[in-house]
Formats: sequence, structure tokens, C-alpha cells
Amino acid sequence: MSDYEQFIAGINKKTGINLALYKEAQMKRRLTSLYEKKGYRNFVEFMQALEKDRDLMNEFLDRMTINVSEFYRNGKRWEVLQNKIFPQLLQANKRLKIWSAACSTGEEPYTISMVLSHHLPLSQVQVLATDLDKNVIQKAKLGLYPERSLAEVPTDVKSKYFIQEGSFYKVKDEIKRTVNYKEHNLLNDQYDSNYDLIVCRNVMIYFTEEAKDQIYHSFSKALRPGGILFVGSTEQIFNPAQYGFEIEDTFFYRKK
Ligand SMILES: C[S@@+](CC[C@H](N)C(=O)[O-])C[C@H]1O[C@@H](n2cnc3c(N)ncnc32)[C@H](O)[C@@H]1O
Repeated sequence: MSDYEQFIAGINKKTGINLALYKEAQMKRRLTSLYEKKGYRNFVEFMQALEKDRDLMNEFLDRMTINVSEFYRNGKRWEVLQNKIFPQLLQANKRLKIWSAACSTGEEPYTISMVLSHHLPLSQVQVLATDLDKNVIQKAKLGLYPERSLAEVPTDVKSKYFIQEGSFYKVKDEIKRTVNYKEHNLLNDQYDSNYDLIVCRNVMIYFTEEAKDQIYHSFSKALRPGGILFVGSTEQIFNPAQYGFEIEDTFFYRKK
């Protein structure tokens, strides 16, 4: 077994995270720079240290998960969600079952609620938001963001749903109340079913082809017929028909 394979086995045992399903070159580069900075010489030494040091484990998790996000990321796509996809989904159902998978620090699920509030009262909006990483879920629940996270937020939405606190912006409680957070590992955990909309953006890029294939099959099963999968702006699905999807719009797939 190589150093890295031993490391993968150790991490899997300790955390349940299977690094073998993440693109190897990219992940190794990211982790090597972390352990070198900490003064370790190889993955074996790094694993030994991780076994004993909780703070280092947290740093490792932080480094491997890459949590960057922002509100209305790739703004034009959210216009399509607002003006085309939501009206179509609401024709079929008055209440929508929505999942923001790999939600990071909450910008994405809160954006979903803000967009849907153009069509429904917030009392009828509910979004399940999940991530592998507990730390980001804590931050998401806090709902406090630096101004740069709001760069793409339309001005009317910004004044309606955020409160400025110094150089930070707080998401109003009426939006926060619409989102339920849960820990969930896309590679290990069960998926619920009958979703109208699944939003999963900017995480598939980190996975191997095998892992992506498994996840797209699971998303397809989790959607109701006619439900929509919304993916990130570098994450077109190659041959969507193999998962029972048809293209609804750029980066939106409809389950047949
Ligand atoms: C770059 S962020 C994407 C955030 C948001 N979806 C967006 O597009 O702005 C990637 C997120 O994927 C999460 N993640 C990584 N592996 C995961 C897994 N196996 N299951 C669930 N979430 C995972 C990370 O913790 C991180 O918060």
C-alpha cells in the first residue's frame, strides 16, 4: 500500500470519509501543502498526528472540504430558477420539497428561499440543507456574512432580507426559519425521496467519475418524475439520459 492509500484507510476508519472517491491529484496537493506547513514529512506521519490532535483534525477537515460559497452564485442561473423553473414546479405542486446538498455555510439554501419568496409566502417555503462538515453548518445557522458574499445579491433582496451589522450582513430570521440543517455525507448516507428540486453545486468537481456516477443515480432516484436537479456552472452532466435526466435549461436537468 502506498503512503496515500494508508492515509485514506486511516481517515476512513476515523471519520467515515472515503478520500478514494475524491480526485487524487487535487486532494493530495491540498493535503501535502497542509502537512508540510505543519512540519510533517509524509502522509504516514500526518496520520499519526491526526490520530492524537483534535485541532489538527479540524484543520484537515477544513482543508479537504473547500467551503467557498456566495449568495446568488452565477446570478443568471438563479434568474432561470426564479422565472422559469419555479413557476413550472409550482404548477405541479403548491408545496415544494427542496434539498440543498453540500450547502456549505448557508449562502445557497438562503438564496433558494429568497428566490422562492417571489412566488410563495415564506411560511410556505422549506428547504433541507445538508453538508458533510459540522463546522460549516454551525456558521450557516449563525447566518452572518462579509459583504463580498453578497456581491451578486439583487439590491431589493439585499434590503429586504439582510441586516447590516458593521462590515457584516445578517440574514433575517424570517429567511433563516425556512431552512433546516442536517449533517449528510453524499457518498455514504441515505437520500430521502420525492424531491421537486435538488440543488447540488460546486462539489461534484472534487469527486472521481465513479463517485459522480453513483451520486447522479441517487439524485435521480431521490427526485419525483418531473423534478429538477440544478448543478454548478462547470458541472454539466455528460450523457444525462443514462440517469433518466433530460436537459431543461443550461445546468438544469429534469427527471423523466
Ligand atoms: C465549494 S462548497 C459548495 C457550496 C455551495 N453548494 C455553492 O455552490 O456555493 C463544497 C461543499 O461540499 C461539501 N462536501 C464535500 N464532500 C462532501 C460529501 N461527501 N458529502 C456532502 N458534502 C460534501 C464541503 O463540506 C463544502 O461545504
